[in-house]
Amino acid sequence: MYSESVPVHLVRHPIVLEGLLELRDVSTDPPRFRHIANRISILLAAEALADLPVREVTVQTPLGPAPGVRVAADIVVVPVLRAGLGMLGAVLELCPAARVGHIGLQRDETTAIAWQYYTRLPDGLRHSYVLVIDPMLATGGSAVAALDSLFAAGAIDVRIVCIVAAPEGLALVDRHYPQVRVFTPVVDDGLNAQKYIVPGLGDFGDRLYGT
Ligand code: PRP
Ligand code: URA
Repeated sequence: MYSESVPVHLVRHPIVLEGLLELRDVSTDPPRFRHIANRISILLAAEALADLPVREVTVQTPLGPAPGVRVAADIVVVPVLRAGLGMLGAVLELCPAARVGHIGLQRDETTAIAWQYYTRLPDGLRHSYVLVIDPMLATGGSAVAALDSLFAAGAIDVRIVCIVAAPEGLALVDRHYPQVRVFTPVVDDGLNAQKYIVPGLGDFGDRLYGT
């Protein structure tokens, strides 16, 4: 079970928490849901990338030289299809030069076990800062499957950004990949019999796309 030792990074920004409340609300329609998911994801991704390496540079203002920094990192963002696509625009807004990998995972409706139907990752992950974006971390099966693919492809620095996490999912990630940090606004109570997060927000993909 999830314990305080799991390296979860709670992002408790008030705008994230207010948005999360709106995502949870069953009356929030898909257009609004997409808008809020994007807004939350910007803040979550900013936090997950707060320790990116930089190099010092100087630019000329109209009044003279000014020191500053540029990001000196290869960033790879990997949405887990399909719900992770709802967070992709936010990350690309922050990091327009990021490379994008895709991992398609679908939970079986009866067993909740995820099967991987698509994988396409950029080369050279060894030196990249890899951000896995998947809004729901429930049993953790999808996250671990995504991490299996990324580490097999050579990734070393991988972070997960989600919008709602369950203790069960955090514990599973920690058991398989204790070095992976999870950025989330909240750790909910747990899973119901169908392996949905409670209270959660329902099926993220369905609410995002109106299916
Ligand atoms: C959802 C969600 C995660 C997964 C989490 O995807 O987006 O990928 O479930 O559950 P887990 O932690 O128990 O694996 P889903 O399989 O419903 O596919 P979708 O994104 O296509 O809706
Ligand atoms: N996937 C979702 O979209 N919601 C959950 O609660 C669990 C898995």
